[in-house]
Amino acid sequence: MQNNQKIIAIFGAGGFLGKHLMRELTKLDYRIKVATRNPYLKGYLKPLGSPGQIELFKTNIFNSEEVKEVLQNCDLAINLVGILYETRKQKFSHVHSQFPYLLSNLCNEMGIKNLVHISALGIKEKHPSQYMQSKLQGEKNIQDNFKPSVILRPSIVFGPEDKFFNTFASIAQFSPALPLVGGGKTKFAPIYVGDVAKAIVKALELNNSKPKIYELGGPNNYSFKELMGILLAEIKKKRFLIPIPFGAAKFQSYFLQMMPNPLLTPDQVELLKHNNIVSGDHPTLKDLGISGTQIQSILPKYIYRFRAGGQFG
Ligand SMILES: NC(=O)c1ccc[n+]([C@@H]2O[C@H](COP(=O)([O-])OP(=O)(O)OC[C@H]3O[C@@H](n4cnc5c(N)ncnc54)[C@H](OP(=O)(O)O)[C@@H]3O)[C@@H](O)[C@H]2O)c1
Repeated sequence: MQNNQKIIAIFGAGGFLGKHLMRELTKLDYRIKVATRNPYLKGYLKPLGSPGQIELFKTNIFNSEEVKEVLQNCDLAINLVGILYETRKQKFSHVHSQFPYLLSNLCNEMGIKNLVHISALGIKEKHPSQYMQSKLQGEKNIQDNFKPSVILRPSIVFGPEDKFFNTFASIAQFSPALPLVGGGKTKFAPIYVGDVAKAIVKALELNNSKPKIYELGGPNNYSFKELMGILLAEIKKKRFLIPIPFGAAKFQSYFLQMMPNPLLTPDQVELLKHNNIVSGDHPTLKDLGISGTQIQSILPKYIYRFRAGGQFG
């Protein structure tokens, strides 16, 4: 290990995106300080680098001293922290707005050169979803506090261990039908996790004096119904696709949100009322020199386990 390598602080690296990003960064010889709530459960990250290249820190992201300890001696920072639904202890406003405020202030104070923040596609003023409102406030906090920041807004991210395709494939294992909230007309631009990881690496190398926003969508837009069709064809299952009006879905979501890992929350019904595609108002994946990967070239590689005959089915 040479001491001229750049050091990156990553918050939220133990999740889906973090795991895929880690390998991209270690291949480039970055040294990485990972802030996590539970380093004992994140041991799988260490073999993604050479010995000593990845260090784990037990961090409460709302404790500025602990966040400072992670940022100490770092050149760059990445924020991947996010939640899909609120719980009694975890609120959107804390995780998506307050933490970016604290982090961007501390990045300034600690002389960090670039902060890459992962937000979400579809953000707009007055969005009825609390998730989107909190992500928007997080972006504003970062833009106000830390000028050389880069904000990336991905659409649904797919790849091994994704929540989207894996969840619906699991439902198709036991259910004769899959729900199409609002008729399944909402459009998405699914993006491969490897492409988001590459975009983060490129964003780290930017040298901007003003905050920049990129919208990250894959090469094609699909309606929710089309995505279910692609999934079912891939796992070789025939299932009814049942349209559920938004009102009925909202009613069901009040009950579903009580599950430990809710399938649908009232806030997610609000999200589904709006398309989640690149708006054209901001630079995109192409501007980072990345050509998006097609779903069809990746999905078969990990979703085969849901076929009746598995890999050979
Ligand atoms: N996956 C997608 O389709 C998608 C689409 C658009 C935007 N995004 C955004 O991309 C980012 C990464 O997504 P992901 O899919 O990798 O999510 P993920 O698998 O759920 O991982 C999120 C990470 O956030 C951290 N985290 C959550 N609550 C925390 C808290 N209270 N304190 C500290 N850390 C906390 C967790 O870190 P520890 O458990 O290590 O502490 C976890 O590793 C998120 O900001 C998400 O909103 C994702």
